[in-house]
Amino acid sequence: MAASAYLMYNAYFGFKESPFNLSPDPNFLYRSPQHEEALANLIYGVQSRKGFIVLTGEVGTGKTTMLECLRDYLAYQRVAFAFLFNSRITPTEFFEMIAYDLDLRCARNSKTEVLFALNQLLIHQANSGNTTVLIVDEAHNLEWDVLEEVRLLGNLENRQGKLIQVVLAGQPEFDRKLDAPNLRQLKQRVVLRCTLNPFEERETVEYVTTRLEKAGMQNQAVFSPELLAEVHRRSQGIPRLINAICDNLLLTAFAVEARVATMEMLDEVCTDMRLEWPGMRRRGPVASMGGLAGNPVYGVSYRD
Ligand SMILES: Nc1ncnc2c1ncn2[C@@H]1O[C@H](COP(=O)(O)OP(=O)(O)OP(=O)(O)O)[C@@H](O)[C@H]1O
Ligand SMILES: [Mg+2]
Repeated sequence: MAASAYLMYNAYFGFKESPFNLSPDPNFLYRSPQHEEALANLIYGVQSRKGFIVLTGEVGTGKTTMLECLRDYLAYQRVAFAFLFNSRITPTEFFEMIAYDLDLRCARNSKTEVLFALNQLLIHQANSGNTTVLIVDEAHNLEWDVLEEVRLLGNLENRQGKLIQVVLAGQPEFDRKLDAPNLRQLKQRVVLRCTLNPFEERETVEYVTTRLEKAGMQNQAVFSPELLAEVHRRSQGIPRLINAICDNLLLTAFAVEARVATMEMLDEVCTDMRLEWPGMRRRGPVASMGGLAGNPVYGVSYRD
């Protein structure tokens, strides 16, 4: 959508910012119990120098958002960290990116030099009572040879614990990847695991309400409880899908100058998004509607 349309829709509803942006912005964090627990685990794992921490979750459940919160925490605590968000990299690029993020003064394309400079930094940090953190997002995409380098970094330790804390976040297939025989050693070193699951219905409602409040709308009346229940069902509680649906609903409401989003708008938005969900009814002739005719949720355009 054009930026001007956003500005207009924000003005129409009185938002300071767009409530359903797709970026992983910690300012819009909704502290669901599981997100709260995941963040507490990440922070605890790093602070207690546990070594390897793994965060997994389905697509769009908030992994990168958690990492962004961790990054904010580390920056606030002045803990040095490298954040690799692109995981489709070669071992050489891996070391280059670490050197760049940690501002290592060495020939960044030489693994030997980077390892040497990194070791110096880790020891220096440890001697001053600090730790250093490596965060890798999309870890399911890491090639075996890069994972092996990650494992070897985890071997660096002194008497107080690991010199570098490694946080690996990825889709559930990452957990399965760790089960591979050649990754047994890495798997054994994982001391903390956290998982993000889709929201329960109550959480979806709180999530949407929280985002609207943060954007400047108190006591929202744009989305009725029935509509939110249906948004939950169709998004299956996945935050990114909830955002996309709600954003489109607000835009549609704005376009027709409505103050309240309706089930018809939701149908239209889901069709435009080509969204599919368990138990969805596909478009078809009214004749086969059976008992669903007149149901405000399904309108008249769905059949079994
Ligand atoms: N607890 C939360 N509070 C606020 N927003 C959230 C939360 N969890 C997820 N989101 C929002 O949902 C969207 C998807 O989140 P995010 O990008 O962190 O998911 P992801 O698990 O990293 O997805 P992917 O598997 O595609 O990398 C973002 O817009 C993010 O802001
Ligand atoms: Mg992500």
